[in-house]
Amino acid sequence: MTALHSLQQPDHARGAGSDAGPAAREVVDRARETELLEAALRSGAHVVLEGPPGTGKSTLLREVAARRDSSYVVVEGNAELTPARLVGHFDPALVLERGYAPEVFVDGPLLDALRSGGLLYVEELNRVPEETLNTLLTVMSEHEIAVPRLGRVRAEPGFGIVAAMNPYDAVGTARVSSAIYDRTCRIAMGYQSADAEERIVGTRAPVPSPEWAACAVALVRSTRAHPEIRVGSSVRGVIDLAGLAHELGRSRGVAGDDWHAGLDAALVALSGRVRVDESSSRRPEEIIEELYVAAFGPPPSSDADDSEPGESGGGDPPGEA
Ligand SMILES: Nc1ncnc2c1ncn2[C@@H]1O[C@H](COP(=O)(O)OP(=O)(O)OP(=O)(O)O)[C@@H](O)[C@H]1O
Ligand SMILES: [Mg+2]
Repeated sequence: MTALHSLQQPDHARGAGSDAGPAAREVVDRARETELLEAALRSGAHVVLEGPPGTGKSTLLREVAARRDSSYVVVEGNAELTPARLVGHFDPALVLERGYAPEVFVDGPLLDALRSGGLLYVEELNRVPEETLNTLLTVMSEHEIAVPRLGRVRAEPGFGIVAAMNPYDAVGTARVSSAIYDRTCRIAMGYQSADAEERIVGTRAPVPSPEWAACAVALVRSTRAHPEIRVGSSVRGVIDLAGLAHELGRSRGVAGDDWHAGLDAALVALSGRVRVDESSSRRPEEIIEELYVAAFGPPPSSDADDSEPGESGGGDPPGEA
């Protein structure tokens, strides 16, 4: 509850949008994964959370970290995460004055975590440059690090590394795997159940009705099973779809579950999120529209007598004309 967490490199850490906020959110479902992660960390193991984007890896970690009494530090894996950024550096101006004294060293996130017995959470591990990865690998197996001119820094009890990886990200996944897997435990994070996704969207976005949320979740889930789509949308797509449909309904003066507003929202929220397979000649918009009709039913036939100008709230789940 009392965890202090600092977001290192906030520019990068903020990349994921609203969901990158530091506050721990309530995790829907995932009791099993939570138990496994907590047990692994208590046992002193390092952990890789592996799963497609949007499967709740960061959400789970934040929840687990917030329940521990130690601090945690998040770093975003990317080309700029050099060993010096991760470990820390001597302040050049102070070195001129005082030489390479330990108090002149500015701890990076790794040293912070080591010294405080905290958690280091590395997002997008597969994008971490090789040199930095080597530093991490050494710390994982030795539980200490030798920093030139500073000396050895040993891990305090409680220290652990949790890394998140996306199995679909071809960038360097093969390069990372064998060395990392041999030093870590792995928790696979698959997509949430439909029921969990409905509950997640209910807490993250305004939904006109549970029935509408169920159709929106069905639509987004169908992008993951479509033969012409290589990678479908995560629950983030449902959250955006619901938010957009709500705003469109307001600006158009129609109900939040208006069929046409929903279709526009789906096109905007999902067409960029799905990757159409190279073998398909169709545009993502065409496939999304087809899936929208499959999930929400055909357009209401009574378009002429436009829905009541106020709110109707009734909703038109699939099949209802
Ligand atoms: N089990 C869950 N409980 C509550 N919210 C969830 C859950 N899973 C996902 N979400 C919500 O879905 C969004 C994406 O989740 P999150 O950022 O944790 O995914 P991720 O696996 O870390 O994704 P990425 O691989 O892109 O970093 C967030 O808005 C989060 O609140
Ligand atoms: Mg994440």
